[in-house]
Amino acid sequence: MLTTTSKRIAAPRRLLYGPGPSAVEPRAYEAMKEPVLGIRDPYFLEVMNEVRAGLREVFGTANRMTFTVPASGSGAMETAVANFVQPGSKFAVFAAGVFADRITIMGQRQRAKVVRLEKTWGEVFTAEEAEAFIEREQPDVIAFVQAETSTGAYQSGRAIVPAAHKAGALVIADTVTSLGAMPVELDAIGIDVTFSCSQKGLSCPAGLSPISISPSAFEKLQERKEELFTWYLDLRLMSKYFEPPHVYHHTPSPPLYYAMHGALGAIEEEGLRNRWDRHKRAGERLINGLMKLGFEPLVKQAEHRIWHLTTVKPPEGVDEAQFRQKLLDKFNIEIAGGLGQLTGKILRIGTMGPLATDENVHFLTEAMAACL
Ligand SMILES: Cc1ncc(COP(=O)(O)O)c(C=O)c1O
Repeated sequence: MLTTTSKRIAAPRRLLYGPGPSAVEPRAYEAMKEPVLGIRDPYFLEVMNEVRAGLREVFGTANRMTFTVPASGSGAMETAVANFVQPGSKFAVFAAGVFADRITIMGQRQRAKVVRLEKTWGEVFTAEEAEAFIEREQPDVIAFVQAETSTGAYQSGRAIVPAAHKAGALVIADTVTSLGAMPVELDAIGIDVTFSCSQKGLSCPAGLSPISISPSAFEKLQERKEELFTWYLDLRLMSKYFEPPHVYHHTPSPPLYYAMHGALGAIEEEGLRNRWDRHKRAGERLINGLMKLGFEPLVKQAEHRIWHLTTVKPPEGVDEAQFRQKLLDKFNIEIAGGLGQLTGKILRIGTMGPLATDENVHFLTEAMAACL
């Protein structure tokens, strides 16, 4: 009885080279030891406001309505869909991976009419394709995944947003994997609503997911007549906690905010652009090293690759599950296999936060070579 909890927890030290959770920023770990405070403690509110300011920086936005949903990335995805996709409305999804499929299902569960433009997994949509689809469908809301973690493809949104706005549609972007490691650039691209997570490019533990809403999208939401099906994820209620007088909606977890504060502080010190460059260099170094070992990139065009999430087909005759097990047993390295239609076919390797350095990529490549 209670054989694990009667001892002190002593989790193994893994090297998290997967698609997330990624290695936690040391400052974030450190910060989590600080005392828990009340939900309106002035010190805690200051931390919360600084976290919100830091998130605006990494999102590239001036959106006042930038805060955190108390959930993992999927909870923030559901928040965006439940608030902005109305029953009976037309919801258009750019679909080329598992996370676009997930947002599709969420739209269907909101009783929207969901239409999809599909593309081969690992590819991105062109402006011509986006325009034709949006012109044909005339949707109320569109969604795309900026960094599709199931395939390794990055789509900034520049090919999609202008056509969506021309048709008067609101744009939701999944920035779960791009935030903190690659350009998100909400305002420059014109994305109306976005959601992300803490456990990938921000190098924090999971559980607190950033969301950002443009002033015009928030205004539209305020005008929505009927009540939402969900209470917990209702942004009209949730947002009131983040602004004075901080009306109680849910109990926030101070250690998760401390962690995010520490991680955002580390990003500010390094400089966001320097951090992007570091992730780009690490990704390029990794894919070059892996190609020399006989791995084949899933995303053919280098400019469409997520810098910090590399997807490769293993060399002929290598069983991906056995290969991953060997890496874990011999080197304590965790990488991931494929999802959905790519299950058993590819490896997904993250070089995020503290692991996105020349030395750490070199170590990983050597370890992978030793396990072939
Ligand atoms: C692009 C994308 N969207 C959504 C999610 C869901 O996030 P979570 O696993 O934190 O619920 C993930 C998780 O990997 C993701 O990569």
